[in-house]
Amino acid sequence: MRSHYCGEINESLVGQEVEVCGWVHRRRDHGGVIFIDLRDREGLLQVVFDPDRAGIFAEAERIRSEFVLKVTGLVRPRPEGTVNPNMRTGEIEVLAHELVHHDEQANEDIRLKYRYLDLRRENMLGNLMLRHKVTAAMRNFLDGHGFIDVETPMLTRATPEGARDYIVPSRTNPGKFFALPQSPQIFKQLLMMSGLDRYYQIVRCFRDEDLRADRQPEFTQLDVEMSFVDEAAVTNTMEELLRYVFKETLDVELPNPFPRMTYADAMQRYGSDKPDLRIDLELTDVSDLMSAVEFKVFAGPAADPEGRVAALCVPGGSDMSRKVIDDYTKYISRYGARGLAYIKVNDVGAGREGLQSPILKFLPDDAVAGIIERTKAASGDLIFFGADKARIVNDALGALRVKVGEDRGLVADGWAPLWVVDFPMFEKDAQSKRWMALHHPFTAPSIDDADALRAGPGDALSRAYDIVLNGSEIGGGSIRIHDQDMQAAVFELLDISDEEADEKFGFLLQALQYGCPPHGGLAFGLDRMVMLMAGAESIRDVIAFPKTQTASCPLTNAPGEVSAEQLKETGIRLRVPRTE
Ligand code: AMO
Ligand code: AMP
Repeated sequence: MRSHYCGEINESLVGQEVEVCGWVHRRRDHGGVIFIDLRDREGLLQVVFDPDRAGIFAEAERIRSEFVLKVTGLVRPRPEGTVNPNMRTGEIEVLAHELVHHDEQANEDIRLKYRYLDLRRENMLGNLMLRHKVTAAMRNFLDGHGFIDVETPMLTRATPEGARDYIVPSRTNPGKFFALPQSPQIFKQLLMMSGLDRYYQIVRCFRDEDLRADRQPEFTQLDVEMSFVDEAAVTNTMEELLRYVFKETLDVELPNPFPRMTYADAMQRYGSDKPDLRIDLELTDVSDLMSAVEFKVFAGPAADPEGRVAALCVPGGSDMSRKVIDDYTKYISRYGARGLAYIKVNDVGAGREGLQSPILKFLPDDAVAGIIERTKAASGDLIFFGADKARIVNDALGALRVKVGEDRGLVADGWAPLWVVDFPMFEKDAQSKRWMALHHPFTAPSIDDADALRAGPGDALSRAYDIVLNGSEIGGGSIRIHDQDMQAAVFELLDISDEEADEKFGFLLQALQYGCPPHGGLAFGLDRMVMLMAGAESIRDVIAFPKTQTASCPLTNAPGEVSAEQLKETGIRLRVPRTE
């Protein structure tokens, strides 16, 4: 990144452009001109920012001590009388043309350990202020629409949202534990049974799951529930809320209405249930063209009812080198893909002669013609192929679509919200062969009749909806089961025994007997939403005191050990040795 160390710049370089990197040792604002002493291993260098260069001057005004910078600029002699004989570089200075601010790259553990300093940075403060504006706008909207803010317990029982629970021992009930809520799901349903009609809460949820860039073990939901509603009532109100929040906080007009897509369509066209519609690339199914070809890699999955052969045409992609294609092949191997076949379309009018591909020799003319026609490939394009179990092809090509879109600048500016609807109600777990709920087990199926559901669970769709923004799932919800028989049938299909259902959710089943209104709702992931709105790369950048990838806090050193006394009081004996 640098042409010279700061401390090495001297008179011999006058008139030359140099690139230097280092830390801001001191910043002085001399009424109109800004001086920075930039420091590296070799010494200090005076950098000057001229107010006539407005853009870079404005950036320099934000610079503070210890910022990490790269400066590109012109070496010039210092004006008469300002030479500093005590500095190695005291004869010269650098007039800055370009400034790159590198402090974002400070090790994140250090940033979290000294979070109170990290938060002083303008963009971090800006993120927290945006978050505040977002929640203020949400409350304002919901208050104006008759929603009532109710708090629900943090010390509670398990709420099944698919993650592990964080548990808290009870001193007063030795051997028993509370679970921290994965969501307020059951409580908000009970509030509907109480006749509250419209509930909301900006609420912390706890999930002990594998962390990723857009997940935290404790995160915040805007949680909403409504009575006497169907899907349209919930999704319309929530859309209106999002439009209001975006307008109030970012002055952005989101579309009205948001587009809707079925889960089946989303998987077919984008290989994902949270497609980023800013990228104008689609998967094309070619299974039927491949069932009779010689190439086993394609023919096998094409003939398999659970298999899929799909193509992804990249406009202008034929300029990709062997190395680029190899890198993409490696990239999708993490999704289980065993290869990435391709055809380069050099001249679409020239038949086979115009195509270039290691698999061309395996494909008969009509298959090749079918591929070109279906993908609408033009000269200069490249077509990728995935062939495997549908799940693998969808994951791999779905991820490749996004990666290629980002790499080749095909992601349009702006905001692309989308409702994804008509999810399957259940999915068969590949290993255990048991039915699993795609959403939580309180989601209503599209089939009204409990016996019909028992007879054909695999065909049932759920009355759930997810809200996707720019390829991120920022919220999800459903119309709920409000009938005891149906709820019992769903527990049964999920292999939750009567005993277990009774022990875990008996209070809910019982409550359903006392007159339950049809109801439904949704929860937004607030942190994810603000992360997108702020243009932040990590969910941690919009949370004041977040946890690391290993779910710990470098600032407070949580989680920590507890005293022998506390263990004794709660009736716990450790199976791991204490580390002191
Ligand atoms: P769900 O589990 O889809 O639904 O959660 C709602 C939204 O919360 C966000 N989210 C997370 N954000 C950060 N870190 C996490 N670990 C995390 N997990 C989830 C996502 C997600 O869309 N009770 C239902 C809602 C309902 O049916 O009304 C629920 O919790 O953006
Ligand atoms: P092979 O016959 O294994 O050398 O593969 C020929 C081409 O097909 C290579 O470009 C591989 O990357 C590709 N390929 C192999 N397996 C698959 C698969 N399951 N899906 C898509 N392409 C594949």
